[in-house]
Amino acid sequence: MGIPIIAPSLFAADPGNLEQAVAIVGRSGARYLHIDIMDGHFVPNLSFGPNIVAGIRKRSKLFFDVHLMIEYPERYTLPFIDAGADCITVHGEAPGDIDSVLRICYESNVGFGISLKPKTPLDAFKHYYSRCKLLLIMSIEPGFGGQEFMSSAPERIAEAKRIREELGAEYLISVDGGINPVTAPLCVAAGADILVAGTAVFNSDDPANVIRRLAGQ
Ligand code: DX5
Ligand code: ZN
Repeated sequence: MGIPIIAPSLFAADPGNLEQAVAIVGRSGARYLHIDIMDGHFVPNLSFGPNIVAGIRKRSKLFFDVHLMIEYPERYTLPFIDAGADCITVHGEAPGDIDSVLRICYESNVGFGISLKPKTPLDAFKHYYSRCKLLLIMSIEPGFGGQEFMSSAPERIAEAKRIREELGAEYLISVDGGINPVTAPLCVAAGADILVAGTAVFNSDDPANVIRRLAGQ
């Protein structure tokens, strides 16, 4: 088991002080910043648009891991890439044109990922996995932070790992929702490469310490 990549989720940061949140993550040793995009349709909540991503891009060299929880993600793929995304992850369940998203990412030399809600069978989008930089396993229903980790997630992570071996694919396995120092080791043991954590990091008095603990250090 290697050291997982920690991807603090900006959605849980103080919305009035995103600059400070980005600076804290930058100093913490985390390499990724997870940025949740919600459209009020695919999930019943709203979050950031490309202008916010462009604004924080000016203040951060972190890898921007953009998680689109939106319908018709092909309409917004290029705006988020232009804003500074390093990887665009879309939901397999969302209406829209995944092939177009994949093509735009490929042409822009930006990573492409697929995310699956907790009840979506993992093999439903298998035909895309060999072209994915990451496979994002949701361990909560998407839309809100601060929810409890679903105990089904480690088995799904293990299944994602089995599928990766079967396909000879190279995607990173990411897990998102309810990740904290108690649930993180369960995910790493099952094969997670990336841990997305919002509340555990930003509701803490010492985010850098939580990030180190999540990485098992
Ligand atoms: C929820 C988002 C998550 C969220 C995680 O839809 O995709 O990234 O910010 O938040 P916590 O860590 O609080 O579960
Ligand atoms: Zn997310």
